[in-house]
Amino acid sequence: MTKLGEMLKETTAFLKEKGVGEVEFGLILGSGLGELADEVEDAIAIPFSEVPHFAVSTVVGHAGKLVYGTLSGKKVLAMQGRFHYYEGHSMQKVTYPVRVMAAMGAHSIIVTNAAGGVNENFTPGNLMLITDHINFTGDNPLIGENDEAMGPRFPDMSHAYTPEYFGIAKKVAKEQNVPLQEGVYMGYSGPTYETPAEIRMSRVMGADAVGMSTVSEVIVAAHSGLKVLGISCITNLAAGMQSSLNHAEVVETTERVKSQFKELIKATLAE
Ligand code: HPA
Repeated sequence: MTKLGEMLKETTAFLKEKGVGEVEFGLILGSGLGELADEVEDAIAIPFSEVPHFAVSTVVGHAGKLVYGTLSGKKVLAMQGRFHYYEGHSMQKVTYPVRVMAAMGAHSIIVTNAAGGVNENFTPGNLMLITDHINFTGDNPLIGENDEAMGPRFPDMSHAYTPEYFGIAKKVAKEQNVPLQEGVYMGYSGPTYETPAEIRMSRVMGADAVGMSTVSEVIVAAHSGLKVLGISCITNLAAGMQSSLNHAEVVETTERVKSQFKELIKATLAE
């Protein structure tokens, strides 16, 4: 067995020991959006620090635990918080939890994040259905020897975000009267916010939102054959579109829209 295979065997054995059973959906809850994990029923919560081969998250606003249980009638394994490349973790470490979700039997993941709006029609507080991404991190979690047991050497990214989930999310948003934007997420490494020139470039390149996560996770999801639903919370307009940016504003906006966000995800899961 490969090194990655061995690691996954240890991690999944540990989780099963803790009572984690069948998983249908993996959930990755971004900055300020982790509260959804508090609504998981019959929850088993495991701090990341206890999970074999997990990195240790350091960002404020990321609680850092795995929560297993039932949400909207579905068996979910939720990450309250995530690992970021800018923390100094390798892309493989950042995306290891997605491997674990797949190894636990998940067929789909829901990835969420806080993002800066690049599209001039967006306003802070909007939710955005991610229809595609641009990997602008300068790295890729699949660089290195390919583990054929995990997936192909050259994964197809044509439908990395699952089209059949777009319709469900849009229908639910309409029913809930939540304005749901849609667009392309461009992933930067961070931790700096972008410069105004970088944002102008991003817009020309076709980005609607920018952030510091998600793309590597979705690459590994595609490699693993997982379906993906991605939702961004547009917490601010990107650099140059407003006077300045700060993390406090990002947290404030997620606070403001988190109930809309939670309802959207829960109802989408139910469907
Ligand atoms: N840029 C990058 N990441 C972000 C932003 C942003 O403007 N807002 C929230 N996360």
